[in-house]
Amino acid sequence: MTISDERIESATVAALPQAVRQLSINLNHWYVAALSSEVKAQPVSITLWEQAIALYRDRQGKVHALEDRCPHRQVKLSEGKVLGDELECAYHGWRFDGSGRCTAVPYLAENQKLPNCQIRRYPVREQDGFIWVFPGEVEKAMAVQPLAIPEWDDLNAIGSVAPMQCEAHYSFLIENLMDMYHGHLHDRYQAWADPKLEGLEETESFVHAHYQAQSYYKVNKIWSVVQLWFPAFRQLHPEPLDVSYLYPHWSATLGEDFKIYCLLCPVNATQTRAYLLHFTSLKAFPKLQRHPEWFRRRMKQTFFGSAKFLLDNLIRQDVKMIEQEQQSFLQHPERRNYELNRAIASVQRLMQQQAWAEERE
Ligand code: FES
Ligand SMILES: [Fe+2]
Repeated sequence: MTISDERIESATVAALPQAVRQLSINLNHWYVAALSSEVKAQPVSITLWEQAIALYRDRQGKVHALEDRCPHRQVKLSEGKVLGDELECAYHGWRFDGSGRCTAVPYLAENQKLPNCQIRRYPVREQDGFIWVFPGEVEKAMAVQPLAIPEWDDLNAIGSVAPMQCEAHYSFLIENLMDMYHGHLHDRYQAWADPKLEGLEETESFVHAHYQAQSYYKVNKIWSVVQLWFPAFRQLHPEPLDVSYLYPHWSATLGEDFKIYCLLCPVNATQTRAYLLHFTSLKAFPKLQRHPEWFRRRMKQTFFGSAKFLLDNLIRQDVKMIEQEQQSFLQHPERRNYELNRAIASVQRLMQQQAWAEERE
């Protein structure tokens, strides 16, 4: 469905019923669990929509995702350690392989059999710098793909990543990300000004919002990077600003130069973890592309994280507002918002449809 510009600009819509703040998620998608670099020799515990999951790497470096629960006494398996290709529980040393099967009990008597216990194994993939977990029905995991991040390995894109943790339902974060009118909040960290919603496309799997805006950053000189730190070097100029809710994740492009992603790991109904990624394109510098690959790779690594301080500050400002929205909702769930941006109603519909699809399946 495409909504005309006229309707977008003239409408004042009330938010959908506050049931959206209590929505579940559609489990049949790939969610981000961790950065690849966060899962090393020791197991890592994450929570994805109330499911505790232990991530670990085997001897080949392959990542496994198991239910984070030892079936012996129900303690966290992630408290233990990796032995070869297996995970050993800290308490009594029972071991589990990547399929979740118990393979050893250190004090098993000769006349005893291994307990026939099995913990849940989650489909897991390592792609574009992240570990992705599929918490839904295993047979559906092949039918969908994790969100592609082609810039991760693109030598023409300099990346930065910042983790994000908000004590709020994921819907507040998605609405924040889709509503470009909140640039007001970001003061000297803002990348854009004067947004105007000019188009909206909504389907059962995504919402695209097209804004026209003024961008603060112009990447056309080798020293353009200083604009990140010194506002005096920023040059306001018109750029398209396209933001997309690609359920369950989000991405945005500002002109030719910037791409941003927000990869979500909803923890529960009042907690959301996410990673914000920012890429600056080097396509404006064709001479750079004539350098050998090793040089460009080194350059990509050297400048990795150069926009992290910017992301951290944007996150700090956004999280404060999002958490206040959550607290306000908990205290006064009967209150309704006034909403002028039609993109919000669109993403609320998509969140509802996806959560309900999960319940119907
Ligand atoms: S609780 Fe895990 S081995 Fe006993
Ligand atoms: Fe923001």
